[in-house]
Amino acid sequence: MNYVEKLFSLDGEVAVVTGGAGVLPGAVARTLMRAGAKVALWGRGTGHPVPEAAAALQSDTGAADGTVAGITVDTADEAAVAAAIEETEAALGTPTILVNGVGGNRGKAPFVDIDVETFTDVVTMNLAAGLVIPLKHFARYWIEKGQPAAVINFASMTSYKALSGVWAYNAAKSAVLNLTEGAAREFAPYGIRVNGIAPGFFLGYQNRALLVKDDATGELTERGRSIIDRTPFGRFGKLDDVEGVTLFLASSAASGFVTGVTIPVDGGYLTDNI
Ligand SMILES: NC(=O)c1ccc[n+]([C@@H]2O[C@H](COP(=O)([O-])OP(=O)(O)OC[C@H]3O[C@@H](n4cnc5c(N)ncnc54)[C@H](O)[C@@H]3O)[C@@H](O)[C@H]2O)c1
Repeated sequence: MNYVEKLFSLDGEVAVVTGGAGVLPGAVARTLMRAGAKVALWGRGTGHPVPEAAAALQSDTGAADGTVAGITVDTADEAAVAAAIEETEAALGTPTILVNGVGGNRGKAPFVDIDVETFTDVVTMNLAAGLVIPLKHFARYWIEKGQPAAVINFASMTSYKALSGVWAYNAAKSAVLNLTEGAAREFAPYGIRVNGIAPGFFLGYQNRALLVKDDATGELTERGRSIIDRTPFGRFGKLDDVEGVTLFLASSAASGFVTGVTIPVDGGYLTDNI
């Protein structure tokens, strides 16, 4: 094993990627597989079915049989999450990496027009389903087994600076930073590291309509244009932009003394000034 492999190889690891049929979580899953981990894609199955995503991941990466699983589970459902941990263990072995990829936004509105039901749904998706429930059940499982592990949460630019009109998403993603730090402190004595990635703007299923006016021509909405203008690298993120940071945070050889941090991958968006 050469030096780089020693630092970044994930041979022998088993990763669970929630929202694994989605755009960014799917890219993270591919990276983890390429580095040698077995990967279970967890997804709700509505819209983006996980069995198909798992089959595509296996054929894209040329992975051997028995190294990928697609598990249909709503991560907002505690009992289903507990059962999916067992199912993953039976299929691939003891999970050692959790990527909390579930999350997203739904539309935007002036504050005075907030629809409280939608607000609550978005907070639930990003916080309960997107972090708290999976982490609660995995941490319990790892602590009982005495198993060290790595967790990667998905924050956002809204974690640092409120974006206009997406009130629930702002509230939830700023809480992701806080929970990442707090959980890192709580679980450090068990060898469970909790870190985060804060992507800038990538075209996912749920934000595409807010940013792209015309898929055929690539013409952007006013909001999409404004984001590009404020991103010093002058573009949206590409999926391979998250590969290196994923490997770094997942590999205990590379980041074994790193916990509670969230790393922006944003083309400099957070440096925007006047
Ligand atoms: N795309 C971006 O620009 C961007 C920027 C910053 C942060 N993020 C965050 O990154 C993560 C992934 O974003 P994306 O744009 O790739 O999203 P995406 O919509 O492509 O993928 C999210 C997946 O999660 C699944 N899902 C939603 N609720 C679920 C539940 N309760 N149980 C199981 N599966 C569920 C969806 O079906 C979808 O397949 C999210 O947390 C998002 O907030 C995205």
